[in-house]
Amino acid sequence: MKIALLGTGTVGRALARGLARCGHEVVIGTREPEATAGRDLGAETFAQWLVASPGVTLAAASEAAAVGDLVVNATNGEASLTALAGAGEAALAGKVLLDVANPLDFSNGFPPTLSVCNNDSLAEQIQRAFPSVLVVKSLNTVTADVMVNPAALGAAGGAMFVAGDDATAKAVVSQLLTDLGWQSVVDLGGLAAARGMEMYLPLWLRLMQATGTAEFNIAIVRREG
Ligand SMILES: NC(=O)c1ccc[n+]([C@@H]2O[C@H](COP(=O)([O-])OP(=O)(O)OC[C@H]3O[C@@H](n4cnc5c(N)ncnc54)[C@H](OP(=O)(O)O)[C@@H]3O)[C@@H](O)[C@H]2O)c1
Repeated sequence: MKIALLGTGTVGRALARGLARCGHEVVIGTREPEATAGRDLGAETFAQWLVASPGVTLAAASEAAAVGDLVVNATNGEASLTALAGAGEAALAGKVLLDVANPLDFSNGFPPTLSVCNNDSLAEQIQRAFPSVLVVKSLNTVTADVMVNPAALGAAGGAMFVAGDDATAKAVVSQLLTDLGWQSVVDLGGLAAARGMEMYLPLWLRLMQATGTAEFNIAIVRREG
């Protein structure tokens, strides 16, 4: 599948390589391709990272969205609506959109607060802003490395949630999750379930502090019989 991955951060790069490894053609979308290519990632530039990432290319967000059969939103949660508008409503129309973003507001430092919660979610805001897009929330409950390598945690990686209003779109995303190695995909129902998935973040941040690592996940343990 041709995947438009909107997001050049840690998540965008991890997912790009992970999905390319599964045989997908990944086009990363960014606002300014030239500036992004020259971005210093520490040990290498973004352009060098691209060379070492077979199956992954970089394009303007609008170009990426236009060629993708499926779109991934891995942009900053505070900017996701702007970023998706920049990709272009027409380019996104009718496509499955996997939303992995979290609406974290760091304006008052750490820990961040949620800029939307309780009776709404970022995923639903995206769905309302782009009504023809088939939004599916998933992967936002684990750190980037775990998204693409759940087996590293043992116990099959724990639970990965999906939420969305369109059953076919959820099936497409669930297949991608299976491709990435997720064995326990838990369908939480309609997109309103994204509220809980996003509101898990304050607990996730406390768990990270308590365990001293971001590489963890939760597993559903229930009484047998
Ligand atoms: N870090 C994790 O392990 C993790 C885990 C789960 C979920 N998440 C969520 O995944 C998303 C990506 O996280 P991240 O840490 O990889 O990256 P990030 O730094 O949160 O976001 C970087 C991306 O956001 C875009 N962006 C930022 N400001 C923008 C604006 N004003 N207009 C348009 N686009 C804008 C950037 O676009 P350009 O390329 O154009 O600069 C870039 O693609 C976030 O929503 C985060 O909460 C992160």
